Amino acid sequence: MNESRLMRSVLYVPGNNKRFHEKAGTLDIDTAILDLEDSVPPDEKETARSLVREAGRALATKGVDVYVRMNAPTSGLGLDDIRLVASADIRGFVVPKVRGAEDVNLVERTLSSIEENLKPHRFEILPLIETAAGVVRSFDIALAGPRVVGLVFGAFDYTLDMGTSWSKEGIESNFARQKIPIDARAAGISAIDTVYPDPNDEEGFLNDVKVGKKLGYTGKTIIHPKQIAAVNAIFSPTGSELDWARKVIDAYEPALEKGRGAILLDGSLVDMVHFRRAKDILRANDLIKKRQSRSGRGKPLG
Ligand code: COA
Ligand code: MG
Repeated sequence: MNESRLMRSVLYVPGNNKRFHEKAGTLDIDTAILDLEDSVPPDEKETARSLVREAGRALATKGVDVYVRMNAPTSGLGLDDIRLVASADIRGFVVPKVRGAEDVNLVERTLSSIEENLKPHRFEILPLIETAAGVVRSFDIALAGPRVVGLVFGAFDYTLDMGTSWSKEGIESNFARQKIPIDARAAGISAIDTVYPDPNDEEGFLNDVKVGKKLGYTGKTIIHPKQIAAVNAIFSPTGSELDWARKVIDAYEPALEKGRGAILLDGSLVDMVHFRRAKDILRANDLIKKRQSRSGRGKPLG
């Protein structure tokens, strides 16, 4: 798990839409993905690159973590995207249609060559797992280098590649959607869930966010401001989880000092597993608070 990055709400923002760029700076998101790929028509790619450079600067000053979704590394556009938009305002690149570690390596080489000309900066890589080959190789992709900090699932290209189609029930992507967070966790990185396409279907969306959380994702890609609040809420500790975590730590630390590794708290077993979980909950809460104080956005937490 990437413990220093908060990536609950991860909003895609088409790279050629200036109004959306401005709007993104007012929203309670952890991360913006400025898109140069499939939300940008071919004859807008050039304009989008220059708008994305400006938007990256503006959003970074507002405390939003910015990634750029480049075009695929072998598309003829992707490596130039990197060369033309890379700046210290950008945390890194979302790499679409990754089929194996070799695609990550192409990006890695381009990033290394660029970093020589920038003040010390280390770009991160978020591979999009959205092809059958990518799903099969997602563990190798997750381990393709230290820049890879998370895997992002993309259900729409994945179902296209499989010759099937996305449904609300999701049976067609069950295996892929379950495999990706396991591979990410085994490699020690985060997993970000796929988008839900209908911003007006609140109930269906909420259910979808909860499924992703259950499967072990640490955040979700979204497409519309209406989807932000539910994602932030579901991927944040609840008030009762925070109360529980504080109680566990207060009871367990003194017990440990007295040589007890297992105790009963309110009649229920607490051992090292619960203690670690309690620490994870408080760590997540600290990250959220830090982001809120940096950006001045978001509801105060307990
Ligand atoms: N990022 C930032 N702001 C956004 C946004 C986004 N992705 N989507 C909508 N908004 C803003 C709009 O600017 C508008 O705010 P404003 O009135 O203050 O300007 C408000 O949210 C409502 O937008 P709405 O009119 O409902 O959106 P739309 O009907 O024009 O567009 C979508 C709907 C789904 C096409 C649009 O949300 C979108 O392009 N999403 C991202 C798609 C994408 O990136 N896909 C690639 C990855 S899957
Ligand atoms: Mg895609």
